[in-house]
Amino acid sequence: MTDVVVRPYEPADRAAVRHICFLTGFAGDPVDYQWADEESFADLFTLWYTEREPGSILVAESEGLVKGYLLGCHDSSLPWPLEQIAMRHVRHRGLAFRPGTAGFLWRTVADAAGDRIRHGTRPVDHEFHDPAFPAHLHINLLPEIRRSGAGRALVSTWLDRLRSEDVPGCFLQTLHENTRAVAFFEAMGFRRHGDPILMPGERSPSGARVHGLTMVQTLR
Ligand SMILES: CC(C)(COP(=O)(O)OP(=O)(O)OC[C@H]1O[C@@H](n2cnc3c(N)ncnc32)[C@H](O)[C@@H]1OP(=O)(O)O)[C@@H](O)C(=O)NCCC(=O)NCCS
Repeated sequence: MTDVVVRPYEPADRAAVRHICFLTGFAGDPVDYQWADEESFADLFTLWYTEREPGSILVAESEGLVKGYLLGCHDSSLPWPLEQIAMRHVRHRGLAFRPGTAGFLWRTVADAAGDRIRHGTRPVDHEFHDPAFPAHLHINLLPEIRRSGAGRALVSTWLDRLRSEDVPGCFLQTLHENTRAVAFFEAMGFRRHGDPILMPGERSPSGARVHGLTMVQTLR
């Protein structure tokens, strides 16, 4: 690894973590082409961790700046109020009618209904619960520190910690189309769990539908 240091999260890192989340929100690329609201996006994907389990966040620092993070959770059965967070932003900030977010929201409703009718599918289950894999993680690095070994250092540190606490397993969810991330997670010992599932609302920058993929690793 070059000059990247992995260290525990501190409250002063919060703004950097939220901004990196937005800058890397679609398979490592900026997400603003389909969701142009950083406040709600960062709340949806980081708030639970920074508010409820900050001790399970690791950051990757380079040149004195936070350039990547791993958001960890020991017990994924704890409630994660994704819908409530989304609805708070929809109600109080009018996201269902704002350019930059309205399209995604209404497309999500249409996709979920259409997918169920056409394929009988349920949306990807963001509340994946399997007692064999109680822990989970999210990881995102800015482009300038990718392929530096920082991802390996973050994930190894998190998995070593889970092993030392006798946690039986860890899962994560990524996009099936994010082939670089899937290769990385496989290199880190994760395996695919179940089939990729169509993600309602989400589109690639070229407009294609994308699929969620769950990956797991047994730790005992
Ligand atoms: C995915 C990510 C976390 C990997 O971290 P990283 O620091 O780039 O990866 P590392 O340098 O630690 O690589 C570790 C191993 O993973 C594999 N790997 C990493 N990136 C890879 C890629 N693009 N293609 C294929 N294999 C890859 C390799 O086996 C690598 O070992 P090697 O360097 O000895 O060949 C990082 O690139 C990233 O944040 N990407 C954008 C955001 C993202 O996709 N996040 C995951 C979505 S849930």
